[in-house]
Amino acid sequence: MKTVILIGAQGKMGQAALAGLSKHKVITAGRSGDVDHIVDITSEQSIAELYKKVGYFDAVVNTVGLCEYETFADMSEAQWMSTIMSKMMGQINLVRIGQKYIADGGSFTLISGILNVKPIPFAIADATTSGAIDTFVRCVSLEMSRGTRINVVNPTVLEEAWGVYGEMMPGFQPVPGKLVGKAFERSVDGFISGEVIFVDA
Ligand SMILES: NC(=O)c1ccc[n+]([C@@H]2O[C@H](COP(=O)([O-])OP(=O)(O)OC[C@H]3O[C@@H](n4cnc5c(N)ncnc54)[C@H](OP(=O)(O)O)[C@@H]3O)[C@@H](O)[C@H]2O)c1
Repeated sequence: MKTVILIGAQGKMGQAALAGLSKHKVITAGRSGDVDHIVDITSEQSIAELYKKVGYFDAVVNTVGLCEYETFADMSEAQWMSTIMSKMMGQINLVRIGQKYIADGGSFTLISGILNVKPIPFAIADATTSGAIDTFVRCVSLEMSRGTRINVVNPTVLEEAWGVYGEMMPGFQPVPGKLVGKAFERSVDGFISGEVIFVDA
């Protein structure tokens, strides 16, 4: 049994990840609600406090990455920056700060999303930052010390989120959260590192 910090536990992707972590002691974190620890991944201080408060942990699974949706023509710099500071820098900072605190042989699992491979209108900021995170994980895995692994789950839309995103995504086939949970399980319990784990139908 590993001690796993699950960030964004109350979100739809967080619930999918939780389905794959049933063997483990899961410490939940998020910006609000019924979680073990409150954290804001856009704040370096908040991230450091989370790790210090938890103490020992073997794995970090992040499912947070807030994105702004707008056409490229109308997306403001502020909308770009809020997406970058959450989905890109927030996740990079979870690893950058967390590498000092994680147990030997630990793992980080981040979130991206299929829109960098299958683009749709309004999703340029999501697609761009998802692509950045896929690249970050592939490349930074070569610099991890103490046997630390890092992977990213790149899923298509969840069945549980189809009601929200379905209209924006004609021709996409949603997948059940339970299947996406398996990808998180493979990252945490397997031996792979530097991989983009795609889950698509
Ligand atoms: N849903 C899908 O089908 C799907 C598919 C592929 C990829 N993804 C990606 O997965 C990620 C999560 O999506 P989701 O559908 O799970 O969203 P969601 O249901 O809206 O959940 C997001 C969770 O993240 C928390 N959060 C937001 N900003 C935070 C911050 N700065 N620090 C800490 N927690 C924060 C939210 O807390 P509050 O409620 O307090 O704001 C909420 O609990 C996104 O990057 C999305 O692109 C989603």
